[in-house]
Amino acid sequence: MTEPTPIHHPNPAGVKRVAVLTSGGDAPGMNAAIRAVVRTATFESLEVVGVRRGFSGLHRGELNLLGPRDVANTIQRGGTILLTARSSTWRTPEGRASGAKYLREWGVDGLIVIGGDGSFHGAHYLQQEHGIPVIGVPGTIDNDLYGTDHTIGYFTAVETALDAVDKLRDTGASHERVFVIEVMGRHAGHIALDVAVAGGAEEVFIPEDDKPVTDAVEIVKESLAKGKRGSIIIVAEGYPGGAQGVADAIQAGTGMETRVSILGHIQRGGSPVSSDRILASRLGEAAVYALMDGRSDVMVGRDSGGICYTPLHETWERRKDVSRDLYRCAKTLSV
Ligand code: F6P
Repeated sequence: MTEPTPIHHPNPAGVKRVAVLTSGGDAPGMNAAIRAVVRTATFESLEVVGVRRGFSGLHRGELNLLGPRDVANTIQRGGTILLTARSSTWRTPEGRASGAKYLREWGVDGLIVIGGDGSFHGAHYLQQEHGIPVIGVPGTIDNDLYGTDHTIGYFTAVETALDAVDKLRDTGASHERVFVIEVMGRHAGHIALDVAVAGGAEEVFIPEDDKPVTDAVEIVKESLAKGKRGSIIIVAEGYPGGAQGVADAIQAGTGMETRVSILGHIQRGGSPVSSDRILASRLGEAAVYALMDGRSDVMVGRDSGGICYTPLHETWERRKDVSRDLYRCAKTLSV
């Protein structure tokens, strides 16, 4: 096979300068996405403006030119070199008007927003109210955006949580205790489900399910009857009552010594795993090409190996279901 040589992308939209920001919760791989935007733009002889502190920085005018050397040594770094924020001012028309003014002053032809659904709302309204082309790049550990198989940061977060589960299993097994482990996922159980299967958990509680907390008591009792002396239960933070609620029910219903571990923000940090770096590189590149093609108000995503485009509003209006098959598998294997 001969290697394909990079060829320049057509630029019917006449884009000369693009801006990029990261917004909402940071996710490992965001830097790889910023790097991909900057390097793709440079390859296509476009300029890039980096916006610091997400929409918060945009309405305050925190803009700077970004060159290809500014993103050197960042592909392996967690967090975001552009910094991020959750902005309440951006939710006001005045905040968005101020951001639009800065983008115009800087001669920006399109804005690339790396973030989750809250960030995409912000981008959508900017486009609607001020006609500035926007492209979303899915960056959140929650993997809860419709229109892409995976979001940037998800794979790393699952690895981080899994590493913790393995360690907690060592101590849990030694003490013959029940460990209830809470992973992130405000509205979604994607991380919880993957971690439950990969971590060999006895049970998983996710917000998508209406399983009562009392089920945990039955599961632990059944486990004891099967000869299991300890159990691992995974709970997504969005499950009502969280891990503490599940643990309290188990302790009260079985008398088993039960411990809670809330993994929290550790899941957002760390060097991105290869799948996140590759996803971020592909989507950062695709975002620049989308603007050059004249696309706007869409998210670039990966669907069965290819690049796809989903209207921003669909990314939050339509629900990305957790894999029911995986759920079934988790149950089967906990026999
Ligand atoms: O959206 C990503 C996420 O990590 C969620 O899983 C979590 O609920 C939330 O962000 C935490 O947000 P913050 O960092 O603002 O506490």
